Formats: sequence, structure tokens, C-alpha cells
Amino acid sequence: IFYMLIGFIRFHFCCGFQCAFAALKASRSSTDHTPSHWAEINGSHCGEHHQSPIDIVTSIVTTDPKLDNFTFVNFSSQHSIRTITFNGHSVQCDMEDNEVEVSGGGLSGQYSVKQFHFHWSKDGAGSEHLVDDHRYKMEMHIVTEKKDVPGGDVLSHKDGIAVLGFFINVSNRLYHNEMSEPWQMLTSYLENITAELNHNISLSDLIGHVDLSKFYRYMGSLTTPMCDEAVVWTLFQEPIQVHKDLLQKFPENTGLSFNYRPSQSLNGRKITASPATPLPEGE
Ligand SMILES: *[C@@H]1O[C@H](CO)[C@@H](O)[C@H](O)[C@H]1NC(C)=O
Ligand SMILES: *[C@@H]1O[C@H](CO)[C@@H](O)[C@H](O)[C@H]1NC(C)=O
Ligand SMILES: *[C@@H]1O[C@H](CO)[C@@H](O)[C@H](O)[C@H]1NC(C)=O
Ligand SMILES: *[C@@H]1O[C@H](CO)[C@@H](O)[C@H](O)[C@H]1NC(C)=O
Ligand SMILES: *[C@@H]1O[C@H](CO)[C@@H](O)[C@H](O)[C@H]1NC(C)=O
Ligand SMILES: *[C@@H]1O[C@H](CO)[C@@H](O)[C@H](O)[C@H]1NC(C)=O
Repeated sequence: IFYMLIGFIRFHFCCGFQCAFAALKASRSSTDHTPSHWAEINGSHCGEHHQSPIDIVTSIVTTDPKLDNFTFVNFSSQHSIRTITFNGHSVQCDMEDNEVEVSGGGLSGQYSVKQFHFHWSKDGAGSEHLVDDHRYKMEMHIVTEKKDVPGGDVLSHKDGIAVLGFFINVSNRLYHNEMSEPWQMLTSYLENITAELNHNISLSDLIGHVDLSKFYRYMGSLTTPMCDEAVVWTLFQEPIQVHKDLLQKFPENTGLSFNYRPSQSLNGRKITASPATPLPEGE
């Protein structure tokens, strides 16, 4: 998840991923800002103990009946995605203000969707979260902020931000299937990225057939500095299927090889799942 990185990004974060390869090649430059050094940044929470992403080990996940179905507002609106930009660390789409909302799903209130963005890797897989050690090709993060937080200071609440995470699985089929069309439209912007989105695409169009009643839940952090522990995470169990040629445009057209943070320790946190989520036998 990328969140309010404005000042930081310019000087540190771009380097975080863009220099990562260079730094690796230069065999551990002492001045790099790769994820392993984020904890050293002044004011950073990156070395704390409730960090994200994690590996979701399904054998220790328990079902929580309180994780009811989400209520989505305006997810089908085709006029709510305002802009798409490549900001040096991800491809991000910003939403119209106060139009798209989510509640339910065990969340403690109403959350307003601010933006969504992507994590990838050019070679191999680039999702941030793992499921039983499996890394998906990509991950999409829909970032929402809790409404009615005093002073709007969402980072100081442990559930001030809710991220809806979707795994993206690489498919060799489906290129001409109806599900591909919104992804073709979206990725067409990567070839010559502009600010305004002129196509009619909704969040629901991009999510497609994913069963939104099947999801994992845990408490964690932003996955970029300052790694504030202010995020209630939802990871939907079913991936979005997108053709490999479209997914390859993210690294190829942006020139950014990868942008995921390595997996962090669970440190005793609980991972739960909604009742509809299939778990291994014996739970
Ligand atoms: C860290 O930041 C605080 C407040 O912004 C400042 O007072 C302090 O000098 C900084 N420490 C270092 C080592 O830069
Ligand atoms: C949903 O979007 C429409 C505009 O497309 C807006 O008028 C309406 O207020 C939105 N609904 C909510 C609950 O925000
Ligand atoms: C991911 O896609 C491949 C085909 O490309 C398919 O075999 C596999 O079952 C899919 N995985 C999931 C979890 O849907
Ligand atoms: C890229 O976008 C700019 C500004 O919208 C436009 O002037 C230019 O012709 C576009 N280039 C290509 C190759 O489409
Ligand atoms: C988007 O939808 C509007 C009506 O809601 C329509 O006028 C417009 O032509 C559509 N744009 C595209 C690119 O399909
Ligand atoms: C929750 O959603 C699923 C699928 O989206 C549906 O089958 C189920 O009936 C819903 N449950 C309730 C209680 O509405």
C-alpha cells in the first residue's frame, strides 16, 4: 500500500525500489534505501511488530462469524475513477472524493475509497501478501479511510485505514473474454500515461467475478515508509484473472521492475477468515 508519501517519496522511496536493483548489483551500497533499511529512517515504524505484508498460512487461520458481507457503495459507478498516474513507485488511480464507500465485512464503520494501486514484479511474481508461501503475479490495493475520525487523523488509529487487497493471477486464456475489456482499457493508459481517465471503468469492472464474501482479515501496517500500524487488512481469497500480456505492461511500460515489500513476521497476530472462505480440513 502506498499512502501519502509525497515528500518522502521524492528523496527516499523512489530510490527504495528503483535503486534496489542497482544497489543489489553494486553489492550492498551503504547508502541504499531498500526495504531492509526502512526501519532506520527517522520517524519510521517499519521496524515495529505488527507490519505488513505477511504470509497467510491457512492452517492457522480461524473462521470469524462476525466477518459478514461487505456493503459496497458506488463500486459499479463508471465515473468515479478520476485519474491514473505513474508516480515513480506505482501506477495509482485516484477516486472522486466521497463517492465510493465500503462498510460491513467486520469493519467498525464507514470507509471512503481514496485510491487504488498495484504491486508487481517483472520477472516472476510480485504480490505483497503470500498465501501458504505462494506469491501471486500482482496485487491490487484499494485504499480507504475511515470516515468521521476526529481531525481526519486516520494514521493514529489502528483501523484508520482499510485496504481491500486483491490477488491478480496470470492467465494465458481469457484475453478476448468480457473480463479482459476493463483491464485492456486500464492498461492502455500505461503506454502513454496521462492524468485523466476517459474510459468508463468501475471498480466492479476490474474486480470481475471474484466472490467478495470470501476473505482473510488481519491487523497490520502500510507496506511503505513510514509503515504506520493503522491498517485493517482484507485479502480476498479468489484472485482476479488477467491475461499475462496486460500484466506485463506494468513493468514494461513504467520501467519499474518490482515494487513489493518482503513478507513480515506475524508476531502472534491472529488471521481470521469470513465464514464462506474455504480453509484446510481439521480447523
Ligand atoms: C529525527 O526527527 C526529529 C523530529 O523530526 C528530530 O528532532 C531529530 O533530530 C531527528 N533525528 C535524527 C537523527 O535525524
Ligand atoms: C454515488 O455516486 C453518485 C455520483 O455518481 C453520487 O451522487 C452519490 O452521492 C454517491 N453515493 C454516495 C453514497 O456517496
Ligand atoms: C491461476 O491461473 C492458472 C492458469 O493460468 C490456473 O491454473 C490456476 O488455477 C489459477 N489459480 C487460482 C488460484 O485461481
Ligand atoms: C502521449 O500523450 C501526449 C499528451 O496527451 C500526446 O501529446 C502524445 O501524442 C501521446 N503519444 C503517443 C505516442 O500516443
Ligand atoms: C462514458 O459514458 C458516458 C455516459 O455515461 C457516455 O456519454 C460516453 O460516451 C462514454 N465514454 C466512452 C469512452 O465510452
Ligand atoms: C453474502 O454474499 C454471498 C455471495 O456474494 C451470498 O451468496 C450470501 O448469500 C451473502 N450472505 C448474506 C448473509 O447476505
